[in-house]
Amino acid sequence: QTFFRPIASAGPPSPTKRHTKISVIGAGNVGMAIAQTILTQDLADELVLVDAKPDKLRGEMLDLQHAAAFLPRTKIHASVDYAVTVGSDLCIVTAGARQIPGESRLNLLQRNVALFRNIIPPLAKYSPDTILLIVSNPVDVLTYVSWKLSGLPSNRVIGSGTNLDSSRFRFLIADHLDVNAQDVQAYIIGEHGDSSVALWSSISVGGVPVLSFLEKQQITYEKETLENIHKAVINSAYEVISLKGYTSWAIGYSAANLARSILRNQRKIHPVSVLAKGIHGIDGGEVFLSLPAQLGRGGVLGVTNVPLTDEEAQKLRDSANTVLEVQSQLGI
Ligand code: NAD
Ligand code: LAC
Repeated sequence: QTFFRPIASAGPPSPTKRHTKISVIGAGNVGMAIAQTILTQDLADELVLVDAKPDKLRGEMLDLQHAAAFLPRTKIHASVDYAVTVGSDLCIVTAGARQIPGESRLNLLQRNVALFRNIIPPLAKYSPDTILLIVSNPVDVLTYVSWKLSGLPSNRVIGSGTNLDSSRFRFLIADHLDVNAQDVQAYIIGEHGDSSVALWSSISVGGVPVLSFLEKQQITYEKETLENIHKAVINSAYEVISLKGYTSWAIGYSAANLARSILRNQRKIHPVSVLAKGIHGIDGGEVFLSLPAQLGRGGVLGVTNVPLTDEEAQKLRDSANTVLEVQSQLGI
């Protein structure tokens, strides 16, 4: 006797929509912010958490499961064993060391590469068709490392990159102009970190190029004001880390925003870390850094041909060289 009785003259069950499975590796501040955003936004049928600390992991899993009555239905599992990730459509990697106040992201490299050697191969083994979304820092170098360690094609290895920095940028511009951040189209590209590049030449507000918008609004501006906004973007994470110890909510929304575009095949353009060799004159080697890229079910569908000024293109190449210099110490 089953709980539900079949009804008379019922036909075969109608096809259900494709089952979507997301695995989040690392159940720390960032992993849990991403997990809870994925749940509230109904992005997965199955959500898996993996961490090296079994008690913390089980505690986080139970705490989320106990919200079942308030959330869309999602099966949540957790394990220290990567077998639980089998058949994932998307694996989001947040495991690893984070910065202490004042420390740069690049300083985390050796510690996190050592962890990634044990994390990435089993993810690729259990989910050969997955898309990897790397969040741990330094995200651009770790995205390159994940590409190498996974053997996956480059279109299926993506770093969360400057999707977050660009949101900070849009927030600060919107605040400065007293408009809605969603009406501000603006990109930060390059390294997710200190050498990032602000694309002032292509910023628009409600479809109006920003510099002419400022003139029309008769808002006086100086190059220094614009540069200060970019400096504030770069300083954002340092400020939050010095105040609360880590950043979590904004990256939670940023990663969920990327997960939606990928898994729902939205073909939306996001500044994310992709294999950038050969683009905008980046010719120093295989390097991942953020460029505006179209995302969908196949991962990176293409990189947009955004026109850069000579100064922006040079800054982008300098940013690529900064990442490559760090990468050259790896021997991968
Ligand atoms: P955290 O210390 O709260 O969490 C890290 C988690 O990783 C811990 O739960 C730890 O047990 C787990 N872990 C460590 N080794 C592991 C392994 N081998 N396998 C599985 N799990 C393992 O740190 P956090 O604040 O969540 O930050 C995590 C990472 O995300 C850091 O590298 C941080 O710099 C980065 N981050 C990136 C962005 C971004 O925009 N790309 C934003 C915020 C934080
Ligand atoms: C960020 C992390 C620390 O919030 O990379 O930018």
